[in-house]
Amino acid sequence: MTQETLSATDKQHLRRALELARKGVALASPNPMVGAVVVDVNGKVVGEGTHTYEGKKHAEVIALESAGEGARGGMLYLNFEPCCTTGRTGPCTSTVIASGVKRVVVAMEDPNPAVSGKGLQQLREAGLEVSHADDELRDEARKLNEAFAEYIQSRRPFVTLKTAMTLDGKIAAPPPEGGYAKGDHRISGGWITSEPARAHVQELRHASDAILVGVNTVLADNPLLTDRTGLPRRRPLLRVIIDSRLRIPLDSKLVTTAKDDLLIFCALADEKRRQELESRGIKVEQLPLYHFEDLNVVGARPIKSASGRPDMWKLVRRLGQMQITSLLIEGGAMINWAALAAGIVDKVFLYYAPKILAGTGAVPFASGEGFLRMDEAARVRSLTIHRFGEDFAVEGYLRDPYAPHPPYVSDKVGPQLVEKGE
Ligand SMILES: NC(=O)c1ccc[n+]([C@@H]2O[C@H](COP(=O)([O-])OP(=O)(O)OC[C@H]3O[C@@H](n4cnc5c(N)ncnc54)[C@H](OP(=O)(O)O)[C@@H]3O)[C@@H](O)[C@H]2O)c1
Ligand SMILES: [Zn+2]
Repeated sequence: MTQETLSATDKQHLRRALELARKGVALASPNPMVGAVVVDVNGKVVGEGTHTYEGKKHAEVIALESAGEGARGGMLYLNFEPCCTTGRTGPCTSTVIASGVKRVVVAMEDPNPAVSGKGLQQLREAGLEVSHADDELRDEARKLNEAFAEYIQSRRPFVTLKTAMTLDGKIAAPPPEGGYAKGDHRISGGWITSEPARAHVQELRHASDAILVGVNTVLADNPLLTDRTGLPRRRPLLRVIIDSRLRIPLDSKLVTTAKDDLLIFCALADEKRRQELESRGIKVEQLPLYHFEDLNVVGARPIKSASGRPDMWKLVRRLGQMQITSLLIEGGAMINWAALAAGIVDKVFLYYAPKILAGTGAVPFASGEGFLRMDEAARVRSLTIHRFGEDFAVEGYLRDPYAPHPPYVSDKVGPQLVEKGE
């Protein structure tokens, strides 16, 4: 993609398009977040649009419709390449061409292999001038739609592993003797991180389609795992528990608050137990056990301790079939390791509080076998450090969702439910 130097006014309009796109957080999924600004020949903003899945119409169509004849000879600013395929709506490129705008400024190409550059090509062929953003705005645009980039290429959610830790990498004080028993909601001794960091976690939850924890975390903390930002979302945050033998207590907050938003993946379901849960509106799905042949993924390694437990790859593929584009894993230690070992983690968001727990009994960030050599360690790239009051967080990538993916091959777990187009 060639890039030109944009004027300060161009950048300002493109920033506004990004701001409009951001209004689609939790409302556009499984589609990308797209915002559009139309500017007339005199440089006046005459139309704006944000895409939401429920609203169907794509952002550029909304913006061009509100601009009407004002678009003629003007310019269109978009954070995302217009589509050239027919999905739930016709191709936006036709609408853009028919509107009479003479120039389109776009921050990034569509990572959808069915579009990627072809939309812009169509505009150029129709005689429109197409300009690209500089690296800074392009990177911002790509970050906003990173989950879509993964999902549209691999049909599985973009996975973020989130944990709150002490400075010495502990996620909880030592567990009670004999482990976490059914219904034993241990008094944990309070939160690790302080309020500003926890408020940020709520933002991560808001931007996610699903959240996942292991059953021990349910037993230990009795969490709600809800999006408490109060902001609108199209679908409730899907709360996913991985619980091989359905040990989840019926009086846990998760079970008692379930409203078609609780999904439990198990390996061997006792029929009576399954019915008990299902009668409360909880979805229970049995997943195939962990398989060695599924580990043909870079960075993945066999986990001996996971035998008899659901396969993490099958889990993410199944979520992909449900049009879950982003998954936030919130622990505990065994699930963190299972996810890292399987190679399903795209990004980490590690929060650190200025505390030291020490001791060998405290719960580490990831338990299990771990990577056995320094040159096998998972590499975290493109780090960003955030400050939240007295705490800080490290955000980094284990994989680039924009890197070309091998062509998607339909898998064995159920039908493919992904819709065509944006
Ligand atoms: N600070 C934080 O951010 C944070 C976040 C979450 C939790 N925690 C803490 O972490 C502790 C719990 O961690 P934990 O490691 O004991 O448990 P966990 O990771 O929450 O849950 C582990 C359990 O999940 C089940 N499981 C199902 N499929 C699995 C798979 N493929 N691989 C591994 N496990 C699978 C296993 O039980 P079955 O065999 O019965 O299925 C396993 O015992 C608690 O103290 C909690 O407070 C801290
Ligand atoms: Zn479109």
